[in-house]
Amino acid sequence: MKALVVYATRTGSTRTIAELIGEGIRFGGADAEVKSVSDIKNESDLMGYDAYVFGSPTYHGDMMQSMKTLLFLAEKAGLSGKAGGAFGAFGWSGEAPQRIFETMRNIFAMNMVSDCLRLKSAELGGGVQAAQGYGRAIAAKIAG
Ligand SMILES: Cc1cc2nc3c(=O)[nH]c(=O)nc-3n(C[C@H](O)[C@H](O)[C@H](O)COP(=O)(O)O)c2cc1C
Repeated sequence: MKALVVYATRTGSTRTIAELIGEGIRFGGADAEVKSVSDIKNESDLMGYDAYVFGSPTYHGDMMQSMKTLLFLAEKAGLSGKAGGAFGAFGWSGEAPQRIFETMRNIFAMNMVSDCLRLKSAELGGGVQAAQGYGRAIAAKIAG
């Protein structure tokens, strides 16, 4: 059982969350690969995983452009029924994780965990358990 965690980031906070989610997935008994969106060049890079967790910070009320591009790639990768989750660092409004989550559920028809994970930059330290817990929930979703 293997999960792919893909993050976009500008200043590194969402990468930190991605790495913690990856740890949580491993604690939960599954394998996890954590990659930057820039490492995903075509849809074949998305194939062969049991779960997908996509993350972007919110800038100007939106996800980063690189995550939008990834979602268009993912649309072609046939992720229907796979386990899924979404996350991101934010400052005050945090639209990006929710929009990623809804796209994965409504367009890709993925088997999503209960909600997205949003962490404020100031909470990143205290958010370790939340992020690892999110990873555990992904691992549990894969296990069914
Ligand atoms: C120019 C600018 C615009 C931002 N716009 C938003 C926003 O609309 N909503 C929000 O919740 N946070 C906003 N933020 C805060 C970022 O989401 C926050 O700093 C986040 O931790 C950045 O994550 P990253 O380190 O992964 O890039 C903004 C930050 C900057 C610098």
